[in-house]
Amino acid sequence: MSADRCQMYNDNPFKLGLFGANCSSGRAINKLPERWLADWDSCEKMAKLADEGGMDFILPIGRWKGYGGETDFQGTTFETITWATGLLAHTKNITVFGTVHAPLFNPMVVAKQIVTADHVGHGRFGLNIVVGWNEPEFQMSGIQQREHGDRYEYAEEWISVIKKMWNEEEPFDFDEEYLHLKNVVAKPKLHGDSSPLIINAGQSPIGRAFALRHCHAFFTNFREADVKKSAEFVAKFKADAKALGREANVYTQGHVVCRPTRKEAEEYFHYLTTEGVDFEAIEGVLELKNITRANTPDYDEYVRQLPPKNVGYPIIGSPDDVTEKFARMHGAGLSGIAFSLVNYVDELPLITEEVIPRLRNLGLKTPPLQSAG
Ligand SMILES: Cc1cc2nc3c(=O)[nH]c(=O)nc-3n(C[C@H](O)[C@H](O)[C@H](O)COP(=O)(O)O)c2cc1C
Repeated sequence: MSADRCQMYNDNPFKLGLFGANCSSGRAINKLPERWLADWDSCEKMAKLADEGGMDFILPIGRWKGYGGETDFQGTTFETITWATGLLAHTKNITVFGTVHAPLFNPMVVAKQIVTADHVGHGRFGLNIVVGWNEPEFQMSGIQQREHGDRYEYAEEWISVIKKMWNEEEPFDFDEEYLHLKNVVAKPKLHGDSSPLIINAGQSPIGRAFALRHCHAFFTNFREADVKKSAEFVAKFKADAKALGREANVYTQGHVVCRPTRKEAEEYFHYLTTEGVDFEAIEGVLELKNITRANTPDYDEYVRQLPPKNVGYPIIGSPDDVTEKFARMHGAGLSGIAFSLVNYVDELPLITEEVIPRLRNLGLKTPPLQSAG
């Protein structure tokens, strides 16, 4: 992977990314007046603030249908490759990912969409491969969802043929179990080298094995209560990748509430996860996981207790607190974090102005990159 794929290939030991901003309400199921609406102008503003403020990447969620409730949580979403392309046109250094459902995107079409985005961004496009899990989204697409293991087998063929399109100079046939493509040509090639940065977050053994074969970065949850376990996981993942002749980094995800003081941050997080919650939408999320009133004892209490846990790993506090948590993650060998905010435009400046300089002081961030043009 060449250095022209900035910013994810800069020297920052701990990279910071924004997660979920293409979706209404981001990742926090809330009905607060300041919640994120994910309209284009706000997304563009967020991307510019992030780029100029020294953030490293932007990672959207591949989401096609909302979860209902008063706010229809994540019901308003931009398709991620086109969204990323637009943001790449408005930024200079930051890496912007598309989160692509392998079964929903024809490989010939998506290979070229990615090349297009990569040219617009001068090598800054990244690909997050997901295989899908949400049945109503598949029903809406008219595409039959496969059994879990088969999803990754299909994705294996899908990414293999896409990589061929990015690299083969001569026409080729691809004839495997799922994909049968004839006389394939694809020009131009990528702007950068042979592949964009590829990431995946499969948590099952087969998902993890797929990531080891194809991805440059993998996502896992940080275990604050057992940092040693997190460190062991990261070390093992990297060693397993090395055994396959590959290099892969491990990242994590979370939700940040950063305020000038810890007290303010904790009060806001409490408000976000109590009166601010769209509980009906939470019920929609649970129903998809087959957790219903009919099969769950104390269902109302279960729903009421859920919010602090379902916004992702919480990073709540003053700039000093947030910096310290990031440093602990780095200490476990993690290479960075994709985090969400309630309102990405309103809350990002405190992070770029107060947290990033603190990370620099700890040697976890380098000075800003010069524009790649
Ligand atoms: C950081 C991160 C981002 C993810 N993004 C999406 C997404 O946008 N869309 C989606 O359908 N699944 C997404 N997932 C789910 C994973 O791709 C994966 O399906 C899930 O972790 C279950 O793992 P498995 O597929 O190996 O069973 C994400 C997971 C994580 C941790």
